[in-house]
Amino acid sequence: MADSSRGTWTGRVGFVLAAAGSAIGLGNIWMFPFRAGQNGGAAFVLVYLAAVLVVGVPLIIAEVMIGRATQRNPVGAFRTLRPRGSWQLVGWLGVASGFVILSYYGVVAGWAMDYAWMAASGSLTSAGVDMQATFDGMLGNGGRQVLWQAAFMAVTIVVVSGGVEAGIERASRILMPLLFGLILMLLGYSLTSEGASEGLSFLLNPRFEDLTWGGVLAALGQAFFSLSLGMGAMITYGSYLAPTESVTRAALLIAALDTALAILAGLVIFPLVFTFGLEPSAGPGLVFITLPSAFAMMPGAAFLATVFFALLLFAALTSAISLLEVVVSFFVDEFEWNRIRASWTAGGLIFALGVPSATVDGFLDKMDLLATNWMLPGGGVFIALFAGWALTRGEAEGGYRGTDGHSGGFVAWRFCVRFLVPVAVAVILLQKTGLVG
Ligand code: PFF
Repeated sequence: MADSSRGTWTGRVGFVLAAAGSAIGLGNIWMFPFRAGQNGGAAFVLVYLAAVLVVGVPLIIAEVMIGRATQRNPVGAFRTLRPRGSWQLVGWLGVASGFVILSYYGVVAGWAMDYAWMAASGSLTSAGVDMQATFDGMLGNGGRQVLWQAAFMAVTIVVVSGGVEAGIERASRILMPLLFGLILMLLGYSLTSEGASEGLSFLLNPRFEDLTWGGVLAALGQAFFSLSLGMGAMITYGSYLAPTESVTRAALLIAALDTALAILAGLVIFPLVFTFGLEPSAGPGLVFITLPSAFAMMPGAAFLATVFFALLLFAALTSAISLLEVVVSFFVDEFEWNRIRASWTAGGLIFALGVPSATVDGFLDKMDLLATNWMLPGGGVFIALFAGWALTRGEAEGGYRGTDGHSGGFVAWRFCVRFLVPVAVAVILLQKTGLVG
């Protein structure tokens, strides 16, 4: 049933850019720096790197090869490989995760859009603005958040309805180079600022005394979210990939780009925070309160703030596109809807589900906890178990190799998905239930 009407990437570069676009998002720029700041700087970064290599890369490979082998959305992919049994439920969990995550992700991306707008108009960085009050003012205004959320979702829907090649790949080809350009520009500013060495040592010196067991698990959870794993986003993107491309190489590249951007974001943020004597472990407010306070004190404040929030917005957009695409590919494959109808219907429903995240106090955090603590790690365990245990060794090796003929690293990969990934992730889940740690 593989049909070209589903769409395909133009090649490996298109796929890697789109997948890196999915991975690089609010998780890198908003969450990674504050989590590193709160959990021992480089101590957290080291654990994070280990998690990316041992858990992240093997799962990217597992997801991409499942998608590539079946050319189907997550539900169809599991059903194609194992028509009997309940493996399909893993696909359903993935589609549900796409719904849940995008519902609140669209709200936070809407904040980034709102801030980019305020920054460009100069009002964010004009004299005497209290950043805490600005942020609280926005959070207290549900209507304003819903409006920006709607604007962001509309852009996401328009891109996804344009299709795999003309919509998603094209947007990634424009936005990803722009994103790296913007962050390098900001890096120039931050590395030449007075607090550069203090900021760098905050991020790059390991403070193991600040790293708790909870911090280790946060690093693992962060790797999951940041690499877009556990919900079939990489299955979906892999389903548009030709079997001639090497999955291992692509997976390593995607993980490297994602990690580079997270670390770059930290390298931009902390020097500025120290230059202006601000609080480095500020938590979620780091990007919306601390950082704009630093910008406001710099020459070219409006310009810098605009560049930063545009960066945040573009990063969020390419991730939101992949979240929506998981749901859209499900409607297109399973119900044979056309892409335009699927995009607007799914996007509209997700927007509606997101409205309480914008208007009801604490709802956004609950959705985030549900998705990142439970749905993604839960999905990840089952995807690893499927690739490691449900598939025969021959099937797994065939899927891993594709038609490019290389199965280098297969044995190490199989060991990871059979043992390391399920155990590591089971520990995260047990810790959440309070049985461990
Ligand atoms: N990886 C994205 C980020 O770091 O912001 C979030 C994300 C996108 C998670 C797509 C899951 C997903 F399927």
